[in-house]
Amino acid sequence: MRAKALFLGCIFLAASLSAQPKLSKDNIPAVVKAMSAEEKALLVVGFNGACEGYDPGLPGTGGLTHPFPKYGIPSVVMMDGPVGVRLEADWHDGRGEAHFTTCFPTGLLTAASWDRGIAYQIGHGIGEETLDMGADVILGPGMNLLRNPLNGRNFEYFSEDPVLSGSIAAAYINSVQETGAGTSAKHFAANSQETNRLDGDSRMDTRTLRELYTRGFEICLRESAPWTIMASYNLLNGIYTQESHDFLTKILRKDFGYEGLVVTDWTGKRNTPLQVHAGSDLFMGGVYSQTEHILASLEDGSLRMKDLDRAATKVLELVVKSVSFQRPDFEPPLQPDLEAHAALVRSTAAEGMVLLKNNGALPLKPARTALFGVHSYDLIPGGNGAAFVSCPYVIQVNEALKEAGFSLDSGLERLYKGYASFADADLTLNHKINVHVGKPQKGELEITRHLIEKAEKEADVAIITLGRTSGEARDRILGKEFLLQEDEVNLLENVCEVFQAAGKKVVVVLNICGVVETASWNYLPDAILCAWLPGEEGGHSIVDVLTGKVNPSGRLPMTFPLDYFDIAGAEDFPYNFVSDKANESVVHPERRGLDPKNLNYTDYTEGIYVGYRHFLTRGLDVAYPFGYGLSYTSFAYSEPVVRQKGDRIMASVKVTNTGSVAGKEAVGLYVHAPLGSFADKPERELRAFGKTRLLQPGESQVVDLSFPVRDLASFNSALSRWETAKGTYTVYFGADCRQPAASLPLKLAKGKNYPATRACEPR
Ligand code: BGC
Repeated sequence: MRAKALFLGCIFLAASLSAQPKLSKDNIPAVVKAMSAEEKALLVVGFNGACEGYDPGLPGTGGLTHPFPKYGIPSVVMMDGPVGVRLEADWHDGRGEAHFTTCFPTGLLTAASWDRGIAYQIGHGIGEETLDMGADVILGPGMNLLRNPLNGRNFEYFSEDPVLSGSIAAAYINSVQETGAGTSAKHFAANSQETNRLDGDSRMDTRTLRELYTRGFEICLRESAPWTIMASYNLLNGIYTQESHDFLTKILRKDFGYEGLVVTDWTGKRNTPLQVHAGSDLFMGGVYSQTEHILASLEDGSLRMKDLDRAATKVLELVVKSVSFQRPDFEPPLQPDLEAHAALVRSTAAEGMVLLKNNGALPLKPARTALFGVHSYDLIPGGNGAAFVSCPYVIQVNEALKEAGFSLDSGLERLYKGYASFADADLTLNHKINVHVGKPQKGELEITRHLIEKAEKEADVAIITLGRTSGEARDRILGKEFLLQEDEVNLLENVCEVFQAAGKKVVVVLNICGVVETASWNYLPDAILCAWLPGEEGGHSIVDVLTGKVNPSGRLPMTFPLDYFDIAGAEDFPYNFVSDKANESVVHPERRGLDPKNLNYTDYTEGIYVGYRHFLTRGLDVAYPFGYGLSYTSFAYSEPVVRQKGDRIMASVKVTNTGSVAGKEAVGLYVHAPLGSFADKPERELRAFGKTRLLQPGESQVVDLSFPVRDLASFNSALSRWETAKGTYTVYFGADCRQPAASLPLKLAKGKNYPATRACEPR
C-alpha cells in the first residue's frame, strides 16, 4: 500500500499543468473544485514518513500533509508538542552537527502560575522554535481535564478545572500563533486516561461532558482560535470522538462555533469515510488505504463529495495560514535561540512552583548543604511520549546551588552522580531509553543512617529532591508511583530525624509529573516546594525560589488528596493496572481475560464532582486544596465589588502586600450558585482568575475579573440547555478554594436559558 501511496503521490508531484488554479487565500473554493476526487482524498490523508521527492521532515516530525505543486500547495509540517518541539534525541545532521530544542516548563507548572502572561511567554518561545525547526504547527497545547491524579499525561495538561485550563490554553495558543506558527488544542475530548487509550470508552452524562470535559475547549475557543483541534483516540459514550458527528459537528462546530481544522490523533486507519462525515478533516498519521477507503465510499455513495470537499477546504485553509505557504523561501535555521529561551524557561518555571509548607526554613541563605535524592543530581525536566523534548542540557539542583554560593557535601555528590550515571548506563544497556519518547525513571539510592549522620556533621541544612516521571501510553500505578516507596520514606525519615535532632532544617523538593501522596509524610520536613517538571533550567528555577530570589506565587491547579481513595470515582480508573506489554495503549482485555471495566470502558460515575468540586461539596479534608500555595509575604484583600452589567459580571478586589518582601498573588473568583431547577450543584466553582503584578511591600493592586453571565449556568441534560438560576449567588475571592479571603452576594433578578444542541447522550 505504501508503495502505491508513493507512486500516486509522486505522480501528483510530477504533473505540473499550468491551467490549474494556484492556491491563494481567496481562491480555495476554485482549487477544491479543480482537484480530482483522488487528489482531495490524498490531501486529507497525511503521512509521517518519507515519500520520494517529498520532505520527510526532521527526525521526530509528527506528520505532514501531501503537497501538490501543480496547485501551489506545499506540505504543512506538524511537530509535537506541547512543551517544546520534539526532535528525535541525539539527532545529528548529515554534517554531524547536533540539533536540540528547548525543554520548556510542562503544562501543569504553566497552569500552576495562574498567570496567562506566563502561558503567553512560554507559548511565544515554543512558537519561535516551531518555525526555527521548519514546522508550521506545534501539536499542543494538551488540555485534557485532570480527572484522576494517575493519568500518565497529566503533566502535559493544565488543571482539574476547565476555566483555568481553557484560559491558560488560550493564552498559549494566542502567543504561539502570533509568531506565525499554528497550534493543535488536544485531545478533544474526555481523554483523561492512557490505559487502553486507543479504544477505551469514556462514559458520562451530558451535564458532565458539557460542564467539565468540553468546557475547557469551549472557553479556549472563546478566547482564541487554534488553527487545529486534535480529536482524541477514545470513544465517548460508545462512539469514537473522531467518528462522532454529534461531537465534532454539533458540539464543536455548531455550539462552540469552531471554524478551524480537526485533525485526528495519530490513529491510522479507522472508518475514515465515517470520520470525514463526522467532521474530521485531516487524518494522521495517514496510510494510503484511507485514501482508497474514501474513494470507495464516494463510489458506492456512502460518503458525499460535499463532506470530502469540506475536509479538503479545511486543509487548504490551514495551508494558506502556514509559513510553508506564506514564506516558501524561508530557510529554517534548525538552530533555535537556545540561550534566549533558556532564560525564559528559568524565569517562567519559577513562577509556577508551589510552596506547600514552610515553617521558617525558607528562603535559604547560602550554607553548607547536604543534598539528598538522586533527582537532585538528575532532575526530571519533562515527561515522556509526544511531550518529550531532546534538550541540550538540564541544570541540576546541585549545580545551581553551588552557583548560588552554597557548598555541598562532596561525598554525597560523588555518590549520587556515580549512581545516576550507572543507572543511565544500565537503562541504555537494557534498551530502556527510547529516542522518541525519553527514558524511564530511576529508583532512589539507599543511603545508610551512618552516612546521613556523617553528612549532618558537615552541613547546616538538608535538601531532598524526590522525583516522579510519566508519559504517554501508560497511567501511573497507585502503589508504585503515587505512593512514596520504602527507600524514599526511609530517606525522608532518617534525614529529618538526624538533622532536626541537631536543630537543622530539612527541605523537600518535589520534582513531580503529578500529584503524589503527601499526607503520611508531610509533617516530617520543615519545608516542601512542589517544583513539578520544570524544564531544562529546572535547577536554577528551584534555587531561585529556595533562596527567595523569586518569591513563590504558584497555586495548585489540582487537589492533593489525603488518600487516593478519597477522590470521587477512584475505583473507576485503572489505578493498579500493570500491562505486560511495552505499550499499554494497546490492550485487548477480552482476549486477555481481564475485567473490561476501566479498560474497554470507564464510567465517569463521579459526574461533575471532580477534584475540588467533590471535596468542597462533600466537606472532605485534603492534603492541599485546589488553589493552595504559600508565599514569603502575605496579602490582604479589601474592597470587593461585584455587579451585573448587561450580559457580563464585573468584579474586582483590591490586593495589598502586607508582608516585608515583594510578591505576586493569584486571585480566584469562585461562585456558589442557587439550585434553580437542579437537585445538586457543587459548593463553589471557579468562574474567573487573575494575578497581580509584583507588588512591593505595602503596595496594592485592584484585580479586575469579568466574565459572561452565561458562565454562571449549569447544564440541564434533560432539556439540553444551559440555565442560570435567578436568586442570590455568593462570590468569593482568593485562590485557595477552601479559604476565600473575601466574599459578597450577587443577585440575579432573572434566570436565563441558553439552548444547546442535543448530542452525545449516553446509550
Ligand atoms: C499523541 C498526540 C501526538 C501525536 C503525534 C499521539 O500518539 O496522542 O498527543 O501529538 O501522537 O505524535
